[in-house]
Amino acid sequence: MQNLGYRAIDPMEIPGNLIKLIAMDWMLVTAGTKEKFNTMTANWGGAGYLWNRPVAFVFVRPERFTYNFTEENERFTLSFYDEKYRNALNICGVKSGRDCDKIKEAALTPIFTNKGLPAFREAKIVLEVRKIYADMLSQDAFLDKEPIKNHYLTKGNLHKLYIVQIESVWVRD
Ligand SMILES: Cc1cc2nc3c(=O)[nH]c(=O)nc-3n(C[C@H](O)[C@H](O)[C@H](O)COP(=O)(O)O)c2cc1C
Repeated sequence: MQNLGYRAIDPMEIPGNLIKLIAMDWMLVTAGTKEKFNTMTANWGGAGYLWNRPVAFVFVRPERFTYNFTEENERFTLSFYDEKYRNALNICGVKSGRDCDKIKEAALTPIFTNKGLPAFREAKIVLEVRKIYADMLSQDAFLDKEPIKNHYLTKGNLHKLYIVQIESVWVRD
């Protein structure tokens, strides 16, 4: 990543407000290998500290093409972009890699981290993450049923929650 203009920082030093970064700026969840990978936009998730590790929480519906890749791979990336890439993130959030080459349509340039994980040269921050815990959300576990009513009954399957360890953080100067 150094040869691509990124430098490593400590997860504690991630610039900006992570709630805003995820909720408002959005991120790309990109998983797979050099041979075959996919990406999707996500803005549900979080970051924190769990089991004495810096972690992120990512929610992926099983109907996403990206789900196949987050399932099959131990590691993947979460990446963040400047506002000028909003349209690219919109494309990656409405089109499916199952049906088209959305990465090309979004004009994103694939790069691979030192660990061989896919991300995009346009990213200002790239997190390399490793899955620690994964499980489907369970309808019975919702104490507040509002999300079931408004986000699941007519809108799709329950998400799979991935708790991932943030192993490396790369930023562009
Ligand atoms: C702003 C935004 C946020 C999204 N957040 C999520 C999310 O957190 N989890 C999820 O499963 N899908 C989310 N999506 C939907 C996926 O990005 C979308 O279904 C995408 O087309 C899936 O692509 P794929 O089939 O190539 O994986 C979001 C879409 C947008 C536009």
